[in-house]
Amino acid sequence: MLSRADNQLLTQSGPGTGAGGVLRQYWTPAALTQEISDGNGIVPVELLGEHLLLFRSRNGELGLIDRHCPHRGVDLCHARLESDGLRCPFHGWKFAKDGRCLEQPGEPEGSRAHQKIRTTAYPVVEKNGIVFAYLGDGDPPPLPGFDCFRAPGSHVFAFKGLWNCNWLQALEVGIDPVHASFLHRFLADDDPSEQYGKQFRDTAAGTNIPITKLLRDYPRPEIGVEETGFGLRITALRHMENGQTHVRITNQIFPAAVTIPMSSEMNITQWHVPVDDHRCYWYAMFTSFTAPVEQSVMRAQRLAEHSLPLYAPKRNAGNNYGFDQVEQETLTYTGMGRDINVHDQWACESPGTIRDRTKEHLGSTDKAITAHRRMLMAAIKKLQNGDASRRGLAGLRGPIAVDAIGASDQQDEIWRQVDQARRAACPWDAGL
Ligand code: FES
Ligand SMILES: [Fe+2]
Repeated sequence: MLSRADNQLLTQSGPGTGAGGVLRQYWTPAALTQEISDGNGIVPVELLGEHLLLFRSRNGELGLIDRHCPHRGVDLCHARLESDGLRCPFHGWKFAKDGRCLEQPGEPEGSRAHQKIRTTAYPVVEKNGIVFAYLGDGDPPPLPGFDCFRAPGSHVFAFKGLWNCNWLQALEVGIDPVHASFLHRFLADDDPSEQYGKQFRDTAAGTNIPITKLLRDYPRPEIGVEETGFGLRITALRHMENGQTHVRITNQIFPAAVTIPMSSEMNITQWHVPVDDHRCYWYAMFTSFTAPVEQSVMRAQRLAEHSLPLYAPKRNAGNNYGFDQVEQETLTYTGMGRDINVHDQWACESPGTIRDRTKEHLGSTDKAITAHRRMLMAAIKKLQNGDASRRGLAGLRGPIAVDAIGASDQQDEIWRQVDQARRAACPWDAGL
């Protein structure tokens, strides 16, 4: 349970707010590369409560600037693209990617007034299908050495989806290891040949036990939470009858991401990014440790569930998330189909866009949520006290995210061994 004031500090994301200040200290996804390709030179970007646009100038460089012209405020999404920037169609002012006004062609000959004009502009970097932005003060940090960034582009697939809820709500579902046994429960296991590109459909490493069966049969995991350089390592142990233990390792990457196993082949790194305080995007990088990712297959799977251009889920509150009572009795725990993203979306959206945490009652299994709130609050207070230092993520690798099964007395090592074996065979990674 939180006080109303603390709930606001942790959830508000705009300029000058508590969490908003901390989120701005790190690179954050702003758009999919796909959105700024295919003939789209300018896309609107609403990010952390700021109205921006992302453009690719004719010479191929990306810029992220204020959406509204600093002259008289028109929407620069209709600007004219030029080789080194974009030009406002109202009076022809031209802006560079760093926000400098390069020309004011309607002002008197020789005028230097343009030199005093600078629009808001933020650094961007494009990596493996996502354009990341840095909205903070000072210089941006280097991108971390995580698997999703170290892997070649051929081994990563990126996608996103829009949810009508606060970013923290979305993150707190991602660091809750118990919900997978209930919210994502399948009453019968899928055909493993149909599992490509989907979560929870594989078998645990070295066994023929479907993950869906493990999660269903052992719903009371023993949960461990350990603070690390990148955030939190979350361990969920499911003790089985035969002296074996299923170990599932997931991670919270501070401040707003998770890295979790998807299958024996792939991991997911997923950011929860505020559009404003009532809407957020999840941005995911699916990273393969084996063959190149079948990007067109994975994109088609997800486009079947989302509407462009907003990447809004087709199942949503407006159509009751496709809820079907017969399906709930026979196929899935939720009755909302087999796409686990929809289950998570319902869990995030249905408490209301900003959950009133003065009314919640956390259980012992919510300890990662509590630990994350503590870290976030400490970072907010530090920043408010004038200390703008942040976590140094640059040298960090991994993080390890796996499902492993082994003898219970090996539970502390088995997950590292499974990860090492996977990395030893990985075409792009010689090991952590
Ligand atoms: S409003 Fe953009 S140049 Fe005048
Ligand atoms: Fe989930």
